[in-house]
Parts: sequence; C-alpha cells; structure tokens
Amino acid sequence: MTSSSDDRNEPISIFRHLPVPTHPEGCSGDGWVNVSAEDGHLRAARCPGCQGDRIMQALLEFIPPRFRKPITLPPRVEEWTHKGLDAEGLYITGSVGVGKTHTAYTALAAWCLITGIAPTRARVSENYGEQRRIPPTVKFVRATTLFDELRPSNNQTRQPIVDSQKTSLLVIDDIGAEKPSEFTAEKLYEIVDERYAHAKPFIVTSNVPPKALADQVGARVASRFSECCDVVPMTGPDRRKSA
Ligand SMILES: Nc1ncnc2c1ncn2[C@@H]1O[C@H](COP(=O)(O)OP(=O)(O)OP(=O)(O)O)[C@@H](O)[C@H]1O
Ligand SMILES: [Mg+2]
Repeated sequence: MTSSSDDRNEPISIFRHLPVPTHPEGCSGDGWVNVSAEDGHLRAARCPGCQGDRIMQALLEFIPPRFRKPITLPPRVEEWTHKGLDAEGLYITGSVGVGKTHTAYTALAAWCLITGIAPTRARVSENYGEQRRIPPTVKFVRATTLFDELRPSNNQTRQPIVDSQKTSLLVIDDIGAEKPSEFTAEKLYEIVDERYAHAKPFIVTSNVPPKALADQVGARVASRFSECCDVVPMTGPDRRKSA
C-alpha cells in the first residue's frame, strides 16, 4: 500500500467513493449558494458541497494514513452509516487482520459526510468570562488507551468519561484485547450506559464475538451492546499476510 505520512500530499478526492454531497449549480466555492425561496426570491444558503469539502479536509487530518485507502464497506456497515444521527451501536468483529479498524475508520468518514459533522478536537469556549470545555465531535480511541485514560491515577478530572459520553460519535477500537480492572470496567460502564440511554451512535471493533465479551468487560456492558448494536462479523484471511 502506498501511504503518505504527510497529510498535505493526500487529496480529499480519496473520499469520493463515500456519500459526498455535491455542489449545486451556481456554487462559486465560497460556502454559499443562492436558492429560490417559497416567495420566489433568491436566498443565500450554505452549500452542501462546500460543507462536504470541509468535512473531507478534516477527515484527512483525523484518519491515520494507513486507514485512508478507499475500501468498500460491508453492506450492513454501509446501512448503519446511512442511519446518520439515528444510528446506535455498530459492533464489528472478526479475527486478526480482517480489516476491522480500517472498516471502522471508513464507516466514521461516511457517517461524518452523511450527518454533516466534521471531526474536531475538544476545545475551550469562553462566554462572559466563563470557560467551558466543548468535547470533540468524534472520538476514536483504542480500548487500551481508553482504559489508561480511565485509571484512578488519571482520574483527577472526569474529562475522558464526559468526552466519551458526549462526543457525537465514539469509536472504541479493539475492545476485549485487554481485561480492564474492576474500577476501569465501572467507568467503561458509565460511558456505555450513557450512550445506550440516549441512543447515541458508537462503533466498537473486537476480536471477541459479542456473546463472549461479558467475561472481558463485564455483563452490563456486554448486555447493552447486545441490545443496541448491529453486529457485523467479518471473515477472511489476515490481510497483512496477503499484502
Ligand atoms: N477492504 C480492504 N481492502 C484492502 N485492504 C484492507 C481492507 N480492509 C483492511 N485492509 C488493510 O488490511 C490491513 C489490516 O487491516 P486492519 O488493521 O483494519 O485489521 P484489523 O481487523 O483491525 O486487525 P487487528 O485485529 O489486528 O486489529 C491494513 O493494512 C488495512 O489497510
Ligand atoms: Mg484493528
């Protein structure tokens, strides 16, 4: 695979196989386009094509080079992306190297283009002298990194928990690879239960089939996944070996 580590060398056209909004006729590329209102007058509206370009640019910065290569999504994953903000859980499972992480990144990209949400980092907004942390719009995290963030020693603030609860789309990659401590499992439950309660979208990838996950992350997390996730088993050889 050819992948550049320099984001600037990659064109946004690598996302053109995804549902990218088009520029309506008359768009001059400044983000706005004239549309006829009901009263017959022309009115300026945001151009969906320009918004799509902005999202693809943000996706280029967000997705690591290896996982930018255009791939075809499994049909059930594609269906999940088209649910947009109504999507709940997506559980991608399969053995080592079948393409779970790549599929999760591509699903994330398609979901962003469909919902119009660009991946942005967490930031602090100031309003009348009061500072407020705005969570990232999309959070993609390896399960082991998330568990590190949730450990008691790192838990002076509830920031990782709140970010994971509030972000528009949470992706936890490779869950089940490591068994969390009782404390960390409880924090993971807090995240999953919040997203479950509010039917917020998330993607989980795992080598472990959902039925076997209870032993790794606890029965309460596994039970919620089994209720609200579309499960997509991926099969095939280890693509790293055949590359
Ligand atoms: N549909 C695809 N077509 C071509 N290459 C792919 C496809 N999906 C994944 N790949 C490539 O195959 C390799 C393995 O993919 P990936 O890392 O997503 O596997 P994985 O299932 O997450 O593995 P692991 O269980 O070890 O985390 C990567 O180089 C990836 O870019
Ligand atoms: Mg992986």
